[in-house]
Amino acid sequence: MTSSKVLTRTLFLICQLFLLLAAASPGSVRAQGSDEIRAVQNIFAPVGPPAETLQQVAVLTLLVCLGIFLAVGGLLLYAVVHYRRRSTDDDTTEPPQVYGSAAIELAWTVPPILIVVVLALATARTVGEIQQPKFNGDPLELRIVGHRFWWELQYPKYKIIAANEIHVPVSYLSTPRPIEMTLASADVAHGFWVPELNGKEWLVPDHDSKWWIQPTSLGTYLGNCTVLCGLQHANMLIRVVVESPEDFEKWAARQQQPANSDPKTEEGRKAFEANSCGSCHRIGGTGAGGIFGPDLTHFMTRQTLGAGVAPNDEANLKAWLRNPQDLKPGCQMPDMKLSPIQVNQIMAYLRTLN
Ligand code: CUA
Repeated sequence: MTSSKVLTRTLFLICQLFLLLAAASPGSVRAQGSDEIRAVQNIFAPVGPPAETLQQVAVLTLLVCLGIFLAVGGLLLYAVVHYRRRSTDDDTTEPPQVYGSAAIELAWTVPPILIVVVLALATARTVGEIQQPKFNGDPLELRIVGHRFWWELQYPKYKIIAANEIHVPVSYLSTPRPIEMTLASADVAHGFWVPELNGKEWLVPDHDSKWWIQPTSLGTYLGNCTVLCGLQHANMLIRVVVESPEDFEKWAARQQQPANSDPKTEEGRKAFEANSCGSCHRIGGTGAGGIFGPDLTHFMTRQTLGAGVAPNDEANLKAWLRNPQDLKPGCQMPDMKLSPIQVNQIMAYLRTLN
């Protein structure tokens, strides 16, 4: 390859890197309401203090690396072009050999050490700030238990148990409301990650981890389990609905109520209990008290089914009840072999649980 080609390629790659960073810059997406879904997960568009701190250290590291890349690449390019072989060169003798230049030795030893020290200090400070937060404002306690393949949500002060879709109030500058989270696991290791809100944290059996978020902008933020936990690891999705404090209180008040009992769907409730659905699922105010699967007391307040595997609509719910293994192969809920009549009855019942 000729030197001009190498130069063109290098410039092209640098341009691509800049375009990539520009596309990922904050402000490219700004949600307006709590129901606006941030479809693209982006660590460069942080929402709230822990994610902002992480973004700052990430940008610092990238800029330092970009500087190193330009300096090393530039020197390399200069050497390749300036000292290329020329037809007038004398090929019979060796070029002058240089040994033991103190200036050169210092130049490639001292700056790299300084760079490593600066980046290590910046990273250590960020880790400290995130792991030992000093909360301003009254934190909202939230305990999250990872299950294969869904999330159990407990709000101890509100005495609420929910699943998969996390509702939290937004933090205003005047009224900050950090969310102090305890992460635990009921079975294997899982990972909790909502890129706009904070970095990744582990959920391991028999050991609680502390984590926190403090979203400062309304919206619905998407996250993932980040530790391979089994067949449906990729469909163990997280939704964080950040809403106004008033909307959050409304949501919480609703979740505290026992389940809706519409006499018209009495047959469905009986079929639910007769088919031992209640030994895995809890429906508040009924005989169903299982804790192995997601709480269904306010099932219809959720946007999705099966921890984000499909929208929570009639067709998907029907498919789920017919055989959950079709929508989410490998999930812990077996095919209950319900008859078409039972499917319709239970579906009608579940769809009244708002
Ligand atoms: Cu839970 Cu992967």
